[in-house]
Amino acid sequence: MLDSERPIGVFDSGLGGLTVARCIAESLPHESIYYVGDTKRCPYGVRSEEEVRAFVLQAGHWLAEHDVKIMVIACNTATAAGLRIAQQILPVPVIGVIAPGARAAINSTRTRKVGVLATPLTVRTGAYTRAIQDLDAGVNVYGCPAPSFVEIVERELATGAHLQERWLQDGDIFDTPENRAEVERTLAPIVEGGAQVDTVVLGCTHFPLLAGPIRHALGPDVRVVSSAEETTRELEDILRRRNQLAGIGHRPTHRFATTSDNIAEFAAAGSFIFGQPLKSIEHVSLDELRGL
Ligand code: DGL
Repeated sequence: MLDSERPIGVFDSGLGGLTVARCIAESLPHESIYYVGDTKRCPYGVRSEEEVRAFVLQAGHWLAEHDVKIMVIACNTATAAGLRIAQQILPVPVIGVIAPGARAAINSTRTRKVGVLATPLTVRTGAYTRAIQDLDAGVNVYGCPAPSFVEIVERELATGAHLQERWLQDGDIFDTPENRAEVERTLAPIVEGGAQVDTVVLGCTHFPLLAGPIRHALGPDVRVVSSAEETTRELEDILRRRNQLAGIGHRPTHRFATTSDNIAEFAAAGSFIFGQPLKSIEHVSLDELRGL
């Protein structure tokens, strides 16, 4: 296999990173992706930084052993906790989603007041505030922890194999009265607290799936941005500079691995998020990820 034809490794705590993997697959159609979702230990956002850092290194070593040419940490929580150490230790380049999310926010805001909706751990680390203010130190950043959103998304996704059909038939399946109420409660500090943000960055790769209720709670004057497109742009730039972009004649193959014991559920929910059937899914045990 040519060096440039080696896959791009993509890692997330579960299914959310498939929102980023989808953007990569659609924008860079000649690239193969090797995705690993640590579904069994999801959610990461309520864990300690040390624990998540260890998980990032385990997944990173595993992907590096599977010959990826670069690793994308498609999880804000894992990026906040483990990007630096992963870059220092792993033998391949590693990028995260927070710097790209910060760029998306900076490109969008006019009032220079930005809300960051993320897991409690991501907000606690202050990683978004640093990344945004590294680009423009005059931007006010309002972190808004959303402890329940990942579970809401995972619960909706676990409801069955007919997500796509239900979506086509009923519209946004995540935009229910209960979800709207929970999203409104969570966003109240930035909506009612006088923050006057004009941009909210979805600082968790699960949250684009809740974009309907989030937009509803924020109203039409607030722009909602996420990191998938900017991450893909950064990835493309790095691969181009390293002369590692797959050629246009390359037929990509995507592989997916999960620590979940329920492959059927991962396949159904994953295919829905990825926008095409996940054809090759394997189970990876926690022992294997830990290198035992
Ligand atoms: N998808 C992860 C993120 O982007 C969050 C999910 C989790 O808490 O594990 O932050």
